[in-house]
Amino acid sequence: MRLSEKRLLAQGGSVCRQTAIAKAAVKPLGMLKEVRKFALTCLLAPMLAAGPLAAHDIITTNLTYSRDISRIFARRCLSCHGAGSSVPLTSYQETRPWAVDIKEQVLSRSMPPWGAVKGFGNLLIDHALTQEEIIIITAWVVGGAPQGDPALLPKEQPAAPAPPMPPLRDAVTIATRTTLREPLTALGLRPVPDKPVTSARIVAQLPDGRIQPLVWLYRFDPKWNRVFRFREPVQLPPGTIVESSEPLRFALETMEATSSRATTLSRAR
Ligand code: HEC
Repeated sequence: MRLSEKRLLAQGGSVCRQTAIAKAAVKPLGMLKEVRKFALTCLLAPMLAAGPLAAHDIITTNLTYSRDISRIFARRCLSCHGAGSSVPLTSYQETRPWAVDIKEQVLSRSMPPWGAVKGFGNLLIDHALTQEEIIIITAWVVGGAPQGDPALLPKEQPAAPAPPMPPLRDAVTIATRTTLREPLTALGLRPVPDKPVTSARIVAQLPDGRIQPLVWLYRFDPKWNRVFRFREPVQLPPGTIVESSEPLRFALETMEATSSRATTLSRAR
């Protein structure tokens, strides 16, 4: 599904014309830093400046739950917020009371809980919302969180869960920085911090000087015990320096089977 940027632009165009308050309101909103400037100036700022849902009947957006939000939630939220969860978000009736809360959760990137910065490194799976999705959800809430026409709810069922992935194991555990002595094909990275991580960039500096970004942890909670799998195997020759920008323990992952053979081989030597 393509979320209609055209519609956003059309809407943005009209609010943009409104006023200069928009620009003035942009600056103090530090938490919105990540959102595109266009969005700030043209969509969010004027709406935020107009105050939170003062009167819930006043609808100032043509984004709707049925057409826009339900599809984002199916992709991004329902794996945890399905029927029977403590905060189910499977219908308009369930979602509406949470609207303002949802806006705060997505703007602060607290939901969905993911723990890595989008676009840094080459991750196979990225559960973080795109900026466009954040803008759409926020604009929908600030615009009065309208339901829209239920006939426009997605027909198809939410995608089936992804097939199980081959198990990985820790190939090497690193305390903040190390220089690899053996070549390593890294398939993922598993942070093992002893406390929540605010922000830590992990990169590999290859022997030829190139910097390979691996993962940028952002508000990562150790209790998630998550492996960030790379989209492509990352070849790390001997001499590669693997380093976190903050003190951090993390493991580089390799394939279960391959690595046990490698271990046997190196033992045999
Ligand atoms: C990986 C699982 C997961 C995903 C995906 C997820 N959430 Fe959550 N969410 C949680 C958990 C766990 C809680 C805490 C629930 C509780 O308090 O019982 C929570 C709580 C919330 C709350 C309530 C916060 C509060 O004030 O207590 C909101 C609102 C919310 N999520 C919105 C969303 C939205 C919107 C999405 C999709 C964009 C989303 N979540 C995706 C796990 C998830």
